[in-house]
Amino acid sequence: RMDVIETMAGVSLPGHLHTSESLRAASSFQFRDSDVLIVTYPKSGTTWMQEILTLIYDKGDPHVAKSIPNWARAPWLEHTYFKEALQESAEPRLLTTHMPFQVLAAALRQSKAKVIYVARNPKDTAVSFYHFHKMARFLPNPGSFEDFLLRFLDGTVQYGSWFKHIKGWLGQREELSLFYITYEELHQDLRCSIKRLSTFLGCPLLPDQVEAIEQHCSFSSMSQNAMANYTLVPHEIMDHSKSPFMRKGTVGDWRDHFTPLQNILFNKVYQEEMGASDLRLQWTL
Ligand code: PPS
Repeated sequence: RMDVIETMAGVSLPGHLHTSESLRAASSFQFRDSDVLIVTYPKSGTTWMQEILTLIYDKGDPHVAKSIPNWARAPWLEHTYFKEALQESAEPRLLTTHMPFQVLAAALRQSKAKVIYVARNPKDTAVSFYHFHKMARFLPNPGSFEDFLLRFLDGTVQYGSWFKHIKGWLGQREELSLFYITYEELHQDLRCSIKRLSTFLGCPLLPDQVEAIEQHCSFSSMSQNAMANYTLVPHEIMDHSKSPFMRKGTVGDWRDHFTPLQNILFNKVYQEEMGASDLRLQWTL
């Protein structure tokens, strides 16, 4: 039920939707300069960004976002169905990945593809990932929150270390055409985030269009959109009765999960891992 595939960077991934062949295809993908790649560690705002970018390119018209599933609008490079899903003729092509930078480094260096890196406070990311492990049947049982948190801090969870992921990608800020934004910024001021994204993408929007996007991309509308809330996925793969994919959509949920001791340990590991790096992250832990 739960095969595991390993990337060349030593990160384990679910056998569901990943094969060594699909990973090889991802690492030798021929990017176009017009491509837009959404990059995230899981549970950091991937689906949200897929929705926002779809709507920016559709100038606020929700037709496509409401009729095509997110994984077909912005397919994951590393997934087995990627080739089938990729709309070769459409430009720009919207792509998604959870891969660590090393897997795509060689392929990306050949192009000027735009990269949008979305990060989320790792405490909330860990909480969201924990609940996702309960509903996603292709992930191992997370055990207690404490057990899971220790593995998250260790980087031995599937998809690897959060710290390595963000350091790997943000270390490329000068080399890549990379736009960095946080889940917390989207949450605090979605309108301003949409405008900044549209400027970066060279896709100007009228005020009415920005407003339409903002409405469509709210947590409540996206929770209702079957093309974004993963309710189309069979029950054997995702069990929404355990925890819905659109779970809470808030900032600071970690406060309801962490004990004071877990918080101290987390801060210590964060400091060890991130203390020396100057990544200009936007959140306060
Ligand atoms: S995945 O599986 O990696 O693609 O998951 P990802 O989409 O990165 O992250 C899922 C979390 O994002 C929340 N989410 C949102 N929050 C606020 N507003 C909107 N519109 C929105 N869309 C998705 C989703 O609820 C998950 O977070 P938690 O904390 O678990 O609720």
